[in-house]
Amino acid sequence: MTTTHSDVPLAKRVGDAPAPGELSAAERMSIDELRSRQLERLQWTLRHAYANVPFYRRKFDEAGVHPDDCRELADLAKFPCTTKHDLRDNYPFGMFAVPQEQVRRIHASSGTTGKPTVVGYTAEDLDTWATVMARSIFAAGGRPGHKVHVAYGYGLFTGGLGAHYGVEKLGATVIPASGGMTARQVQIITDFRPEVIMVTPTYMLTLLDEFERQGIDPRSSSLKVGIFGAEPWTEQMRAELEERMDLHAVDIYGLSEVMGPGVAQECVESKDGLHIWEDHFYPEVIDPVEGTVLPDGETGELLFTSLTKQAMPVIRYRTRDLTALRPGTARPAFRRMDKVTGRSDDMIILRGVNVFPTQIEEIVLATEGLAPHFQIRLTRKERMDHLTVLCEARPETPEHRRAPAAAEIAQRVKDGVGISVGVEILDPDSLERSLGKLRRVLDQRPPA
Ligand code: DLL
Repeated sequence: MTTTHSDVPLAKRVGDAPAPGELSAAERMSIDELRSRQLERLQWTLRHAYANVPFYRRKFDEAGVHPDDCRELADLAKFPCTTKHDLRDNYPFGMFAVPQEQVRRIHASSGTTGKPTVVGYTAEDLDTWATVMARSIFAAGGRPGHKVHVAYGYGLFTGGLGAHYGVEKLGATVIPASGGMTARQVQIITDFRPEVIMVTPTYMLTLLDEFERQGIDPRSSSLKVGIFGAEPWTEQMRAELEERMDLHAVDIYGLSEVMGPGVAQECVESKDGLHIWEDHFYPEVIDPVEGTVLPDGETGELLFTSLTKQAMPVIRYRTRDLTALRPGTARPAFRRMDKVTGRSDDMIILRGVNVFPTQIEEIVLATEGLAPHFQIRLTRKERMDHLTVLCEARPETPEHRRAPAAAEIAQRVKDGVGISVGVEILDPDSLERSLGKLRRVLDQRPPA
């Protein structure tokens, strides 16, 4: 990373578009330059994976394709996809393309069932990651000299350490708070006065409640930018967080299999979806059932091919996240992806209707008198599945507002999503609070 970011005056600039000279050379590339760099890097990646990972050699051979068949970017569609299942089958290190002595770090994502997914990085991979993270933090409004409070978990999860080295690379000061010890986090934010916080949106809500519990107005805090990700969140949640904290709430996306946080980032000056750092991660969107590549603008499953990763290249990795690709805006050469409203695994199919927790989030957060916390409970009665939305009243909400609020939610879910649901409005502070990624759905149905 060059030092092009370093002459920017502090703080006051948050929210402004950077001058072209403040961007790295990669961010100033033309689309043509980017495409030719991508092709070169893609060809290298395919050869590297084929030569060094037996899994890819076998898959390519079975599909009758060879790295030499990739003469243009569209040829990538001829190559087979990779799934989480493939990574699990090669647990722990079978997907690595370099000898273990060259692997400098390992991360793993826990997954809900079975073995974790293991990923590895060479020294150069770690440098690439720090570079794209620094670029992300800058796009979010962070600047050299800022203090950045990192409340993503440190450890095998990529959130904490991924953010950490990005802050350092940017030339900002990192406060490695990690997750948990909520009361102490609020004290540290109050005393150290960071400009930027990096945290999951649901843990930010937990921190907000703690500010209020300690009698501190969150709007009076030093925070100017929140870089929120690792789980889906909605425009309603953005409005809630911006209003209650008086900061810019921007979205960061990533996944451990592809790198970690910093694959795509929303720019603070436009807040119109996430620019994918396409010089390192090549995106495609496919029809999740047919597997065919969809044109930009159509929603489907997002796939990534790494373009520079040495230790663990991934070819057409199926993220299971649903989104659409759009042309670049604030960073013109890089395409944007829509905010991820859910992954195919989070989709609830209730009596034939597809429901995403984010659809419920939009409705709960737009309902007056309710706290922004909710959970979805699934139960089965007489072979029928039932969905109950569990919400919380705000402390100041009078008792008699609860029944109308519940009726309002049920009606809006019926009108907007097309299903009948139960709604329970609980006392303030009844629902489990997030410490990182929140589990939204409590599935209490007996196994089929
Ligand atoms: O969650 C990496 C990360 C850390 C991203 C911190 C952003 C900030 P995994 O644990 O491998 O990695 O989980 C990746 O989380 O496939 C999405 O389903 C979901 N996800 C990540 N960011 C977002 C986001 C990290 N901004 C999985 N919006 C991904 C919606 C997100 N979903």
